Amino acid sequence: MTRIAEALLAARGDVPLFAAVLAQGASAMAAFGISFAAEYAFGKAPPLLLVLAAQGIAASLIGIRFGLARWWIPINLVLPPAAGILLALPIPGWVYLVLLGIFALVFWNAGSNRVPLYLSSRQAKAELARLLPPAHRVRFLDLGSGLGGVVLALAAKRTNGEFVGIESAPLPFALSWLRATFAGLPHARIMHGDFRSHHLGGYDVVYAFLSPAPMAELFRKARSEMSPSSLFVSNTFEVPEETPNQVVDLDDWRGGRLLIWRM
Ligand SMILES: C[S@@+](CC[C@H](N)C(=O)[O-])C[C@H]1O[C@@H](n2cnc3c(N)ncnc32)[C@H](O)[C@@H]1O
Repeated sequence: MTRIAEALLAARGDVPLFAAVLAQGASAMAAFGISFAAEYAFGKAPPLLLVLAAQGIAASLIGIRFGLARWWIPINLVLPPAAGILLALPIPGWVYLVLLGIFALVFWNAGSNRVPLYLSSRQAKAELARLLPPAHRVRFLDLGSGLGGVVLALAAKRTNGEFVGIESAPLPFALSWLRATFAGLPHARIMHGDFRSHHLGGYDVVYAFLSPAPMAELFRKARSEMSPSSLFVSNTFEVPEETPNQVVDLDDWRGGRLLIWRM
């Protein structure tokens, strides 16, 4: 039993979804255990919503201890009480199935390669526009382009260039493809695909706003494929043991920074 527990705990760092389930399971046992003990001792159980809220708080603390990324904190916190409230409402089962489907189509990459969807700030887009080489027809690539906001914002500012996004999550891809199609910006393009198999040669600026997980491998790929003097830019996430040539503080709500490497 101890060995199984040890193996489970050792695996948690590699599979965040598993770590989150483990955190929820442990905190559910603790919260409901205390609730049953209180009922036994005082003859009255605490309200279910309170128990679920306690489970959420405990799960987010355990998640932090397990090394889960910060964006897991609100998910772990809200999930148990939200599930309790939803289950108490007279909502037909298929609604949950549809919601689960939408969630999976948006956060397609969160479980598998640990990159969820969140969007670059207005400040990040403005700094990226400043970074684009002024003179010639620039080629820009957004790796994991989400809803296409960065590609379209830059393409709207610069008509002499080519602005490309690549996205593998089905719903963000479909939405951003539609946005690009109807934006009236023929030099902006959203492709469906996995950036890990997209060649990075020929781009002047390659931008990534991902997570810590893919950065080391991605940077090796950028070094071997990008042409000399092109720029590799990571929003916030560092590359282990690689010092950027320039760092630009974004002064946005999440305290982001652009880390810039000249290849
Ligand atoms: C943090 S979001 C950034 C969105 C957009 N670049 C922006 O800055 O607003 C990261 C995006 O990368 C996508 N993604 C993750 N792994 C990917 C992969 N291997 N290939 C293509 N897209 C990927 C995710 O689906 C998500 O939409």
